Formats: sequence, structure tokens, C-alpha cells
Amino acid sequence: MRPAGSLDSMTTELLDLARTIALEAGELAARRRREGVEVAATKSTLSDVVTDADREVELLIRGRLHDARPEDAFLGEEGGAVGGPSGLTWVVDPIDGTANYLYGIPHYAISIALVEGDPDPLTWRGLAGCVFNPAIGELYTADRGGGAFLGGSRGNDVEIRAAGPVPLELAMINTGFAYNATTRGRQGEVITRLLPMVRDIRRFGTASLDLCMVANGRANAYVERTLSPWDHAAGAIIAREAGAVVKGFGDAAPSSDLILAAEPMLAARLEPLLIELGMRFELPSS
Ligand code: IPD
Ligand code: CA
Repeated sequence: MRPAGSLDSMTTELLDLARTIALEAGELAARRRREGVEVAATKSTLSDVVTDADREVELLIRGRLHDARPEDAFLGEEGGAVGGPSGLTWVVDPIDGTANYLYGIPHYAISIALVEGDPDPLTWRGLAGCVFNPAIGELYTADRGGGAFLGGSRGNDVEIRAAGPVPLELAMINTGFAYNATTRGRQGEVITRLLPMVRDIRRFGTASLDLCMVANGRANAYVERTLSPWDHAAGAIIAREAGAVVKGFGDAAPSSDLILAAEPMLAARLEPLLIELGMRFELPSS
């Protein structure tokens, strides 16, 4: 039992808030999906799309958080950043996996994280994270030091743990590709070299859920470059609380440069291998 009034007990309460809002947001996203979804605009490239539902869901989440926590800052994928004096920031991807959402693939998520410090993944301290896939009703939650859980809209949370150590040749590895055509071409080349060395590769299209898959052992590792902070903020907390290492290159925290999540021994094996296979190429400045 955590002492009342501690940062930990406050974090647990704020995780409950995130969970309630994620469930409501997920219901809205699923309803809009049933009604039919179209591209509202493209962003960095033609593959990088936004739908009206992304915007509407973000507005809902932002409004609910502002009503409950007016002093906290907010960083969202669609609407940008709003400051606040509390030192805490909500980092939100209203629909992670927008391409899956557009195509009706039931693998997308509402991702809500609470972080402390500057809203920069290289330096922030993740406090709580919640990732909800409304298409199949799976809700992942974690707060710092409190473990990671998988439940549904009716609760029934069970604690989850990352898979134990496996040799490289038995590792199931999730990955993803950038929207920039040149960058994704180079990423594809690295993955082609990695493929014969591992059990298999998966590209599911939702970074937050890739991290949750490491957290509950559905994947042994996940690696991607060029993510935005909202893609990994909540999932990284969940994967760490489940016992995985979540990191960037070397001593760096995960960021757009790299996110690697895996059971610790596999992470230590994979990082130098990925570098050897050419993964650490220079990214175009965005
Ligand atoms: C994308 C997904 C995808 C990853 C991309 C992200 P979005 O987020 O998480 O899996 O490969 O890098 O941008 O655009 O669907 O929110
Ligand atoms: Ca998104």
C-alpha cells in the first residue's frame, strides 16, 4: 500500500484518470470507425495521414485532462503542445496506428502518458502510461514502480511480464518503418540482413502496441527509429514496468533516434548487432 499523499499515490490516481479517459476516447474512436473513416489530410508524406477522428479524439482527451488537471501541460500528436505550471505533462497519441485505423485493421490504440520534467523523451521521467486498443478491448496500464497490467474496460487486470531470455535465433522481433521513403528503404535493408538471424520479424503498425507486446511476451523485442514522443511515451513505461529494457543508442533514452525494447540480455545482444548491420545511419533532418 502506497502512503497517501506521496508522488507514487498521486501517480496511481492519475493513472486511473488516464484509464477512464482512454476508455471514453476508445469508445469514440471505435464508433467513428464503424461510421466510416476517410483521410482528412496528409502530413510529412502521402503515407502519413490524419483522419477527422484523430483530431476529434485528441480534442476529447485534451478537454477531459484540462477539466481534471488544469495546471498540467499537454503534448499531443494532432494539436501540439500547451504549457502548464505543475511540471507534469500529458503526452497523448489520440490514435496510434492511424493507417491500420483507416484500413479497418483492428490494431490501433489510444495512448496516454504522464511524464515529469521537460516534455523531451531524452530527459523526461515517465510516471504513468495507459494504452487501449478499443477494437479488441485490451487495456494496458503501468505506473512507475507499480508493475504493468493488462485488463479490459471492465477491469480484471492481470500483471504482465516480458518474456524471459531467448537466443537470437528464437527471437520474435517487432519493428516499424519511417514515413520518409529513403529512410524506410534503408531500414528495410537492415531488416533484410537481420531476418535470417532471428525467429521472425513482425510489422504491426502501432508503436505503442509493439511496446505492450514486449511487455506481455507476445514479442521478444521491438526496434524502430523516427518515432515521435507520443508514439512511445506510454508504451515505454509499460514495457519497463514489465521488466524490459527500453533504450536508445548507448546511454541515451529512447527518442526519434532509436527505441529498442527487449528483455535485458537480448537487448544487449541486439543493439551492437543492429549497429553492425547498418541501423545507425544518419537520419534526414525533419
Ligand atoms: C505510427 C505508428 C507506426 C510507426 C510510425 C508511427 P501514427 O504512428 O506507431 O507503427 O511505425 O512510426 O508514426 O502515425 O499511426 O500515430
Ligand atoms: Ca497518431
